[in-house]
Amino acid sequence: RVVAVIMVGGPTKGTRFRPLSLNIPKPLFPLAGQPMVHHLISACRRIPNLAQIFLIGFYEEKEFALYVSSISNELRVPVRYLREDKPHGSAGGLYNFRDYIMEDNPSHVVLLNCDVCCSFPLPEMLEAHKGYGGMGTLLVIKVSAEAANQFGELVADPVTNELLHYTEKPETFVSDLINCGVYIFTPNIFTAIEDVFMQRKDRANLRRATSFEALQSAAKALPPDYVRLDQDILSPLAGKKELYTYETLDFWEQIKTPGMSLKCSGLYLSQFRHTSPQLLAAGDDARSATVIGDVYIHPSAKVHPSAKIGPNVSISANARIGAGVRLISCIILDDVEIKENAVVIHAIIGWKSSIGKWSRVQGEGDYNAKLGITILGEAGSVEDEVVVINSIVLPNKTLNISVQEEIIL
Ligand code: GDD
Repeated sequence: RVVAVIMVGGPTKGTRFRPLSLNIPKPLFPLAGQPMVHHLISACRRIPNLAQIFLIGFYEEKEFALYVSSISNELRVPVRYLREDKPHGSAGGLYNFRDYIMEDNPSHVVLLNCDVCCSFPLPEMLEAHKGYGGMGTLLVIKVSAEAANQFGELVADPVTNELLHYTEKPETFVSDLINCGVYIFTPNIFTAIEDVFMQRKDRANLRRATSFEALQSAAKALPPDYVRLDQDILSPLAGKKELYTYETLDFWEQIKTPGMSLKCSGLYLSQFRHTSPQLLAAGDDARSATVIGDVYIHPSAKVHPSAKIGPNVSISANARIGAGVRLISCIILDDVEIKENAVVIHAIIGWKSSIGKWSRVQGEGDYNAKLGITILGEAGSVEDEVVVINSIVLPNKTLNISVQEEIIL
């Protein structure tokens, strides 16, 4: 049997995701109309003999309770949220809950970072992993040499796919092959994490027996129960015939910022073309709006038939889109109202916001730039005929004059 674990982090982790993470834990922010973590859970469902899915994080229990129970019912697979009292690092968090994870006596543990977007080829990875016979297999992808240093860079044997060398976010270029944050492990991973704890304890004891400087350096070190999967486990195990790689040629992105969430929403919408076309708006009868490309519209949203929507648009529950509105590349969250003839392009419009007639809310569409898209926080209001370009507007603000390249606090 197989269990899946999704590391969802906690409120101190999603800070680059503000102002959107002020309202909702980042893992529950909707991409293509579904919570970010939902795409991972659906991917896990395709693993043969899947027993359970665990979400591990340090958000309040109640923030995930509702989602976890509804998704368990919907997909008919047990999904449980396990809460850490404080961050223990990506491997420390996993180790903390080893008793729960090993409950079903699984042969394999699938481990996923929540903030990545890809096609999650998990069944294929699992097969490859069994063939390699190691303790773990990492999903890897080639990226541009300039982008590689934001990730774990690695070197793999081109014939055996063995992981030969691993460096987390190196300052000087190592390789354009990077770690996607998607893993398959055998239960031996827990022994490997335990070994790190042991070594730390030995070192601490040694220090206690020695000097004052040693004590000072120990104070600066990470807490003894904080273990990172990348630096503390993958790096030392590279080149020991324990770890292997599986390269994806499909799409892959990391979601640290609102800009990247807009890009990934589009990637998931285009994936729906193949996996769940019924979720995409068809726009093929006279009573519905004109739809261009991949668009998601929640069944409770009301869209005027003269509006023109798409590509890459997702509209959440109870949104109202007026006559003559044009939407391109945007995420419209719950209860938003967009009045007649307004235009929204490369933007995220927060819950309960309202956009006035003939107004324009727009970004230039550079998903990696800080002000490359426009974001309206919860309950924002843009008055009629106001133009907002490349700006971030914090919650509860009213804009009655036009702004450009501004952060409105
Ligand atoms: N539960 C829990 N507890 N989750 C955690 C903790 C923790 O203490 N620390 C991190 N996470 C979760 C994050 O929410 C995220 O999903 C994942 O673990 C990895 O987060 P980081 O450790 O902050 O690393 P990163 O995202 O900067 O980089 C990692 O992922 C990249 C791929 O997206 C590294 O593994 C890179 O090598 C990799 O390229």
